[in-house]
Amino acid sequence: MGYQDIYSAWQKDPEGFWMQAAEAISWVEPPKKALFDRGDGLHEWFADARVNTCYNAVDRHVEQGRGEQTAIIYDSPLTQTKRQISFVELRNRVASLAGALRAKGVGKGDRVIIYMPMIPEALEAMLACARIGAVHSVVFGGFASNELAVRIDDARPKAIIAASCGIEPGRIVHYKPLLDGAIEQATHKPEFCVIFQREQEVAELVPGRDVNWHGFQFGVEPAECVPVEGNHPAYILYTSGTTGQPKGVIRHTAGQLVALNWTMKNIYNVDPGDVFWAASDVGWVVGHSYICYGPLIHGNTTVVFEGKPVGTPDAGTFWRVIAEHKVKSFFTAPTAFRAVKREDSKGEEVGKYDLSSLKQVYLAGERADPDTITWAQQQLKVPVVDHWWQTETGWAIAANPLGIEELPTKLGSPAVPMPGYEVDILDESGNPVAPGELGAIAVKLPLPPGTLPTLWNAEDRYRKSYLTTFPGYYETGDAGMKDEDGYLYIMARTDDVINVAGHRLSTGAMEEVLANHPDVAECAVIGVSDSLKGQMPVGLLCLNAGAERNHAEIVSEVIKLVRDKIGPVAAFKTAVVVNRLPKTRSGKILRGTMVNIADGTSWKMPATIDDPSVLDEITAALQTIGYAR
Ligand code: COA
Ligand code: AMP
Repeated sequence: MGYQDIYSAWQKDPEGFWMQAAEAISWVEPPKKALFDRGDGLHEWFADARVNTCYNAVDRHVEQGRGEQTAIIYDSPLTQTKRQISFVELRNRVASLAGALRAKGVGKGDRVIIYMPMIPEALEAMLACARIGAVHSVVFGGFASNELAVRIDDARPKAIIAASCGIEPGRIVHYKPLLDGAIEQATHKPEFCVIFQREQEVAELVPGRDVNWHGFQFGVEPAECVPVEGNHPAYILYTSGTTGQPKGVIRHTAGQLVALNWTMKNIYNVDPGDVFWAASDVGWVVGHSYICYGPLIHGNTTVVFEGKPVGTPDAGTFWRVIAEHKVKSFFTAPTAFRAVKREDSKGEEVGKYDLSSLKQVYLAGERADPDTITWAQQQLKVPVVDHWWQTETGWAIAANPLGIEELPTKLGSPAVPMPGYEVDILDESGNPVAPGELGAIAVKLPLPPGTLPTLWNAEDRYRKSYLTTFPGYYETGDAGMKDEDGYLYIMARTDDVINVAGHRLSTGAMEEVLANHPDVAECAVIGVSDSLKGQMPVGLLCLNAGAERNHAEIVSEVIKLVRDKIGPVAAFKTAVVVNRLPKTRSGKILRGTMVNIADGTSWKMPATIDDPSVLDEITAALQTIGYAR
């Protein structure tokens, strides 16, 4: 059956489609029914089933004869380490960690925050939580204390599992002081912290609160897998919204199992036993779905890569890892390929490795520019698939489903909607627009299994953010179009979210930080185009009357402030002082116009602008920092 047949089969009988996909999961009690309509736009999948994620990701492979197969390959050019963990070892390690967590009182429904770098122990911590029904929330290592504190207060974890440090090229990321600072700042205090001591930096433990990863497992009974309801939250993953308060995206257990398992063959075209590599981070949704859960649930070997596309040690690292570990499907962000291409545009490094294992490459996280796709196709000589999804959906909304059928590639398009997603392009009144016309991209409710059912402790915000603008639809926050063949094109965000090096960031959150500087009266942060990272944040600052200080000093202070409050991942490195900001007559800052000016793209004078002359000042200011040329 081709894509069209499968998509039509889903359209005809969505519940039957997912019930059939559910047969690949090992249930404690199989679902009797697929979809549960909770009313008012809320839906849950397989809520009546009982199941355990860790059992499906680990134990069942051991029981079915894959115990000796490598489950995790750890390859860390940053520490010169390589290690392989088989499914049986993984089961034993996870059962022991889960047993130790249980012995300290962590049980079903308790939250556990995980703050760890790209080491196998991060996956083990996630799986150990899943084993005992605890709800993990992984926080990306590039966030600062304040961001961690916000997540601690929202998730209210019983425990935090952290590593002593992370490693970035040329520097050690001191996780422990960041963790201590976050706990001090947070109102909610975890009962205990588990610290995995890395040899690159041994952290000091807080007596009575911190336990050592190995020490606290000593002599405890390993934990068995605890069956949970299909709608039990598997995890909470915070993602950027329009304000400084991140959104806690929830993933339900059964839906995630069914959906991710389905994608491994149908989208990523791998069979159990094949090596799958997503070069992302466990702190992002890609890391949850495709470093940890998807490949392991499906019986694939997953690669945990602690390194960068370039500089660790060179632009050939990706190709070395693919060749050495016989990776069949490789997933990365376009920005990573742009970084490699910038250093090795002719692909000299590519030629040094035997890439015969590699059958397909997947790009997501940001718009994949045609140049990058073409370069990758020419270098790697395999299909390069752009696919579109979000933290909220947990898996691809649109892709080229190579495991079903290789559809023709159209550069600039992540191809077609996957079964489960009925995608429409809507105008401001919520009416579908004609093919080729731009609009807001929305998905008809219900969303498929594996997507978010709601936000953690914030159902109202869930409705307001996603369900209210277009009744009957989920609002993606992306704008774009569909062509005559049903291919989607994702052009821009409709909110204040920007995408920097494949990382989703909130300009609103950065503005909140800048506004806290004592000399800043008003500010705006805009996402300007960047040839490497896609977008980069730029701050425009209006100072308080009487702020006589040197502007360069204030700029460097606000840069430090964003790094300290949000973290290095914000990549906030540029700001400029201006006299005033362009606004509409009702006082709304015209961020979009400033982005067009900065990027040097054509723009129209907004009809609602209060005072057009301010735009000349903005242009001049942006020119002083290298934009608007
Ligand atoms: N822990 C701590 N700090 C981190 C971090 C982590 N896990 N990840 C990134 N940072 C820091 C970086 O060290 C950098 O700090 P600096 O300002 O001191 O240099 C800062 O955050 C910005 O990082 P980044 O935007 O990633 O830029 P970079 O210059 O380090 O690397 C690329 C550029 C393109 C090579 C890199 O962004 C990359 O590999 N991107 C791929 C993105 C990706 O996989 N996204 C996931 C979605 S699929
Ligand atoms: P995140 O939640 O961090 O995965 O970011 C999701 C957002 O990244 C989407 O809403 C899009 O704006 C953008 N994005 C992800 N994948 C693509 C893609 N293939 N093409 C265009 N934009 C993408």
